[in-house]
Amino acid sequence: MANIAITGAGRGIALEIVKLHLAKGDRIFALLRDPDGAAELNALAADSEGLITLHAMDVSEDESVRQGTADTGDTPVDILYNVAGVLGPRASQVEHADFDEWLGVLNVNVIGPMRVFQAFLPRLREGSRVVNFGSQMGASTWTHPGAEIYCTSKAAVHKLTQQVATGTTDRGIIAISVHPGWVQTDMGGPGADITPQESASGIVALAGRLTPDMSGGLYKWTGEPHAW
Ligand SMILES: NC(=O)c1ccc[n+]([C@@H]2O[C@H](COP(=O)([O-])OP(=O)(O)OC[C@H]3O[C@@H](n4cnc5c(N)ncnc54)[C@H](OP(=O)(O)O)[C@@H]3O)[C@@H](O)[C@H]2O)c1
Repeated sequence: MANIAITGAGRGIALEIVKLHLAKGDRIFALLRDPDGAAELNALAADSEGLITLHAMDVSEDESVRQGTADTGDTPVDILYNVAGVLGPRASQVEHADFDEWLGVLNVNVIGPMRVFQAFLPRLREGSRVVNFGSQMGASTWTHPGAEIYCTSKAAVHKLTQQVATGTTDRGIIAISVHPGWVQTDMGGPGADITPQESASGIVALAGRLTPDMSGGLYKWTGEPHAW
């Protein structure tokens, strides 16, 4: 049985990852902003014989991350999924940028995973895996006019992951970024390419077969490397 910690667990791709780890009999610390508002996750937890517990965590706030992490106890964590993220404004910011909005997105998408990683670091051991949610929209091989805020935030996630991977090699921690595909969630919209189930099943399989030489890279949900 693996111990899993996952942010943004109440909906979207994260909720499907929770279901897959539950099916494997893993112990899941589900971290989310509003535990009381997550009906589907609460129903899963109620039937999970204690395998799923819900813990309040807003990744944009230091104190919330500290408290939410402490609330999960002191067991080692085998896989930390940093899924929580926001899209931000869709309008181009090239001519008129709202810098407060930009900082808000960076706080959730970039500082958020770093906050959570640091909070759990004492509980990551040799072989523990960190999966940070990046995006092809943050890769240099993609251009996406009108999404400057989101694209820069995800580019930063990829670099952050490489830095974290390099900085924790001596501890045996493996950290990667993942591009989950264009996924039919609230963020991706109904016209997206793949279902959250398809994305989650690829990502859980990938997380299960990571090797140290993969640390620091960006991978598609299919497991193939992605240029960043
Ligand atoms: N969908 C796609 O096509 C796609 C493509 C590339 C990358 N991604 C990335 O994949 C990840 C998951 O995306 P998704 O499609 O599942 O998105 P989603 O359905 O919009 O879900 C976003 C999740 O992030 C949580 N969240 C947002 N701000 C938060 C905060 N401050 N603290 C804690 N949780 C917060 C939300 O929680 P609440 O319910 O509390 O709002 C929700 O659980 C994101 O990082 C996204 O950028 C998605």
